[in-house]
Amino acid sequence: MPPPPWLPPPPVPPSTKGRLGAAVTRLILTDFRCYASLRVIVEPRSVVLTGPNGAGKTNLLEALSFLAPGKGLRRAAIAEVARRGPGLTAAAGDGGWAVAARVSPVEGPPVDLGTGREPGPLDRPGSDRRVVRVDGEAASGQGVLGERLSVLWLTPDMDGLFRGGASDRRRFLDRLVTALDPDHASRANAYAHAQRERARLLREGRGTDAWLAGLEDAMARHGVALGAARRELVERLSASVSRAVGSFPRAGLALESEVDQWLAEGPALAAEDRLRDALASSRRRDAQVGGAAHGPHRDDLLVRHGPKDLPAGQASTGEQKAVLIALLLAQARVQAGTRTGAPLLLLDDVSAHLDEGRRSTLFEALDGLGVQAWVTGTDRQSFESWEKSAQFLRIEEASVVE
Ligand SMILES: Nc1ncnc2c1ncn2[C@@H]1O[C@H](COP(=O)(O)OP(=O)(O)OP(=O)(O)O)[C@@H](O)[C@H]1O
Ligand SMILES: [Mg+2]
Repeated sequence: MPPPPWLPPPPVPPSTKGRLGAAVTRLILTDFRCYASLRVIVEPRSVVLTGPNGAGKTNLLEALSFLAPGKGLRRAAIAEVARRGPGLTAAAGDGGWAVAARVSPVEGPPVDLGTGREPGPLDRPGSDRRVVRVDGEAASGQGVLGERLSVLWLTPDMDGLFRGGASDRRRFLDRLVTALDPDHASRANAYAHAQRERARLLREGRGTDAWLAGLEDAMARHGVALGAARRELVERLSASVSRAVGSFPRAGLALESEVDQWLAEGPALAAEDRLRDALASSRRRDAQVGGAAHGPHRDDLLVRHGPKDLPAGQASTGEQKAVLIALLLAQARVQAGTRTGAPLLLLDDVSAHLDEGRRSTLFEALDGLGVQAWVTGTDRQSFESWEKSAQFLRIEEASVVE
């Protein structure tokens, strides 16, 4: 029922106005990496974490990355994350940890997300499972996290993304797809499972025709769905990244992918048939060589530095970082207005390789998009141009000192 006309409209909290993505306003860590316990309250705008090497800055970003489904920004095993120290080993039978956050979405009331590992010995069944709570209620899987919040990150480990192997680029691409469509992760898992089973049967030489055909059918159905989701994301992202943002270059994106080519040539069902046939006729080769000669596990994401018209891998270190940031900003624009809104951005050591001009453009772009970014660096000077709009936390020896 609409409110009576004589009542003034409810006030919009100033902090949510113009925001396009969810923001974390409270973070509580328990036995997480170097943190025995930490409680941080912030406003729903960007946060800069500074402090010396080893203070715990990246660990804090990693904790935030666990608010999304998956293995977090270090891709760590779940037990590795539990705090270690004298008399405190995971093997000693504890190994529990928790991350709890209050998330303020673009619209609607705040939601409390929690995740972690229940304390207990590592050999207990299910002890490698990450538990999830939404508003205090246990959830059956991590999927619900992706429906509430989307989180993306950039870490120094990704500096070589354009020069390294295709699997890292595929993983990066799939993370972008999943941020927009949380179901993508289960598609990818279903495909990988069928692919592993088929490879095992071929290696052991025990698969009957029907058994192999069943697995190839699963690979074809999930593989084409996977390819179609990648294709759609690359199309949307291409449109968004085709214009420069300040000193962040425009970039060109393309998929190098058999399935993508088939999808360009005809309907998805025809692409499934082609993948099914290609797999069936490569059994002998796959049995000898291992793996599978066809399928989206061979895809690559090709990225070009727009103004230089060069493959991104041939641009300078700083230019490559600028392209990566341009991709994340483009993704944030694509996600704005969707169910989870623009992602929370975790930018670890982001000022390394960025000159002063690019740093200030980045901060302006993040403010302009209305996303909450959590950014780390060793010294505060690199963030001078952000003093007015970001909040600063100094971390030393696993505590917030300012
Ligand atoms: N499971 C764990 N238990 C306890 N301490 C840990 C655990 N894992 C990592 N650490 C410690 O956490 C500390 C902080 O690491 P972190 O990577 O967050 O530092 P940082 O502030 O990002 O430093 P840098 O500026 O060098 O990147 C390190 O000294 C590391 O050894
Ligand atoms: Mg670090």
